[in-house]
Amino acid sequence: MVYIILTMVASMNGGNTNMCGIVGYIGSKEATPILLAGLKKLEYRGYDSAGVAVIEDGGLTVVKTVGKLDKLEKKLEEFNPSGFLGIGHTRWATHGRPNDVNSHPHKGYSDDFAVVHNGIIENYLELKEQLIEERGDVFASETDTEVIAHLVENYYAGDLVEAVRKAMAVIKGSYALGVVSIHEPDKLVAARKDSPLIVGLGEGENFIASDIPAILNHTRDVYLIEDGEVVLLTKDKATILDTDNKPVERKVFHVEWDAEAAEKGGFEHFMLKEIFEQPEAFKKTLSGRIQDGKVKLDELEFTKKQVDRWEKVFIVACGTAYHSGLIGKPLIEGFLRIPVEVDIASEFRYREPLVNEKTLALFISQSGETADTLAALREAKAKGATTIAITNVVGSTISREAHKTVYLWAGPEIAVASTKAYTTMLIAQYLVSVYLAQVKGTIDKDKAEKILAALQELPDNTRKILGQKDYYLRLAESLKGCEHLFFIGRGFDYHIAQEGSLKLKEISYIHAEAYAAGEMKHGTLALVTADTPVVAIALQEKTYEKTLSNIKEVTARDAYVIGLANEGDTEILKTVNEVIYIPRIENIVSPVLAVIPLQLLAYYAACVRGCNVDQPRNLAKSVTVE
Ligand code: AGP
Repeated sequence: MVYIILTMVASMNGGNTNMCGIVGYIGSKEATPILLAGLKKLEYRGYDSAGVAVIEDGGLTVVKTVGKLDKLEKKLEEFNPSGFLGIGHTRWATHGRPNDVNSHPHKGYSDDFAVVHNGIIENYLELKEQLIEERGDVFASETDTEVIAHLVENYYAGDLVEAVRKAMAVIKGSYALGVVSIHEPDKLVAARKDSPLIVGLGEGENFIASDIPAILNHTRDVYLIEDGEVVLLTKDKATILDTDNKPVERKVFHVEWDAEAAEKGGFEHFMLKEIFEQPEAFKKTLSGRIQDGKVKLDELEFTKKQVDRWEKVFIVACGTAYHSGLIGKPLIEGFLRIPVEVDIASEFRYREPLVNEKTLALFISQSGETADTLAALREAKAKGATTIAITNVVGSTISREAHKTVYLWAGPEIAVASTKAYTTMLIAQYLVSVYLAQVKGTIDKDKAEKILAALQELPDNTRKILGQKDYYLRLAESLKGCEHLFFIGRGFDYHIAQEGSLKLKEISYIHAEAYAAGEMKHGTLALVTADTPVVAIALQEKTYEKTLSNIKEVTARDAYVIGLANEGDTEILKTVNEVIYIPRIENIVSPVLAVIPLQLLAYYAACVRGCNVDQPRNLAKSVTVE
């Protein structure tokens, strides 16, 4: 029962991919301790800096710092802002490195307004330039959020809600905002678009937060705020205003969860939460990077001369990140027509790789701290390669050492088993390979537009798969007792099989092996019996017939075969025992969808086998040793 509600909440929050934590308070108690306690409840999501802003004796006190909350706490002992209205923030950096100045809250050009923000403002640079040009504004930070504070101050003419509305009208992107001003010390204003925001309803006090855990100690009654809505809080009243600024009636959602469940957005495990966050994560990875049918990657900006100079590409990573690189290889080879080698990082530097200044080397790492990958990066740089990091953590070591960095913006990934980071790594590689091919002039416009359109439809197509979650629980039940399992496929399907196999192994402890479907008959087929289920991935059109023949090889040995096919494929039904269908999309983009059923299968297999899903035995989230 709780799960069904939680799914509803998650979907209301758009499956919420939180990058930062927001807390706001207005009431009759001291705001600072409430803000700090609320931020501590959001720590689990990962952050790199934190801060609070409190309206104090008609003035605004902002205390913020890079680092963890204990550092902020020390600073607060020194400044100890006293007031009954305030906002707090834990930052997961997207624009601008983790440091004091880039931490939130951000002020406008005076000390009259403060803003906290969760999300990404796509057009912040353009707006920033306008404010500098038109008003000579001076900005302290590199962040997109500070632009919002300047905009609100710019539009303020005695009505804080109106000023926030006007700012919303010009900013593009995603946001959950908390805004306070010394001009209206009895009001807390908030707004939401694409990033989660809730209102906590208290007695003589009210709260805002990006996530329920932050306010559970004070109230279990919340409003779930929807896109385009603005919230006006006083200590005695919470008003939700729709896009026409009309008050909205909203049902109070009474939170039944305990604190621990709340940290997972109500999901039973972080891994399931992160699987369900994928639609939102995809939107954030794509945010601002596809414009007029072309890829826009300001963080790369290579010239044609530079791209033409590369004669070879290496893609280097570990584990799941390595598996994502296997998909990147055919993309880059196909679009740029230059050879690509994909290497496991721990092997790369011991094999005297042929790297020179005509080499492009991509290093993929969710954490950006994997020792093997960092060592490989340093090796490639020393040999003259141009290096690009693809990572999820802003300011991570890999982002500071590579020449260029493309961020996933997938939001914190807590579960050891990587899910949304893997799929957003794939999306990032589609974007990078199309971008480089556009610079080189080696991809035709139609092909690029088809791929980019398919990428933009991924969130909706992913939701269709996630909607069938109960099916995967039943399927996992049927695999509960099995000890050996094969994943087979050809080309992209084989690489998805490799990732699906790792997912199953690392959290359910079922021994699984991914095999190139055409290779089974060269030896491994000897292991196939009625007790070895086989997951056969048959999505790629150009190898479909051959894969069907390979499936017949295993069914002829009595294997139980679960096919993974495109919607509408009835042919495969004649060959396998059951079929998992995914939405039929541009074939070359189907790997992003294909892995999601395998993530769910692995997740439920681990659940039914009583394994520790989020922290599987022997494993760490980031392997910082070689
Ligand atoms: C994936 O599920 C594993 N947790 C592991 O293989 C991981 O992908 C690998 O350790 C690389 O981590 P990174 O992406 O942070 O570099």
